[in-house]
Amino acid sequence: MSHLVLVGLMGAGKTTVGRRCAERLDRPFVDTDDLAVVLAGRPFAELWAEGETTFRAWERRAVAEIAKSPVPHVIACGGGVVLDPDNRRVLRDHGVVVWLRARTDTLTARVGDGAGRPLLAGNPRGALARLEEVRAPSYEGAAHAIVDVDGTTIDEATDAVLAAFAATEAAP
Ligand code: S3P
Repeated sequence: MSHLVLVGLMGAGKTTVGRRCAERLDRPFVDTDDLAVVLAGRPFAELWAEGETTFRAWERRAVAEIAKSPVPHVIACGGGVVLDPDNRRVLRDHGVVVWLRARTDTLTARVGDGAGRPLLAGNPRGALARLEEVRAPSYEGAAHAIVDVDGTTIDEATDAVLAAFAATEAAP
């Protein structure tokens, strides 16, 4: 049994849809941001304030830890997890990776003023558009399947993710 791994930009719904998928699959849910904080023993804001490199190092440890768990999880990845080639490889090796893809308009509407997300500070729309351009190849490279979440409800997105998960797991 593989982990179900959700990747995508901030605001795509990885945590909300991931929690719903975990309920439906009756398996534990973990968010890599939360796990990084637990492993570091320090709050997110403090890790980030030390520099993005510090946060990414803890994030990489979180990905490595959870990927090797023998208990199949639903894993919601922070939006930048896929930038690291080792993260992409380990997640693909131990899980089915689904990209929750959304247009900038959709993401902008969902993140509001970007509170708690330092990369969005000041201009969430501009930041999301730029991140989409830079990261799309990494999401695509990481993903076994893509689910478009523009205009979908949480339940619809959950159904689509679970269908993609089942189809990919069943594939030879
Ligand atoms: C980030 C996304 C955030 C968090 C950090 C950096 C990113 O997670 O890891 O603020 O680089 O896209 P969410 O995607 O869960 O908001």
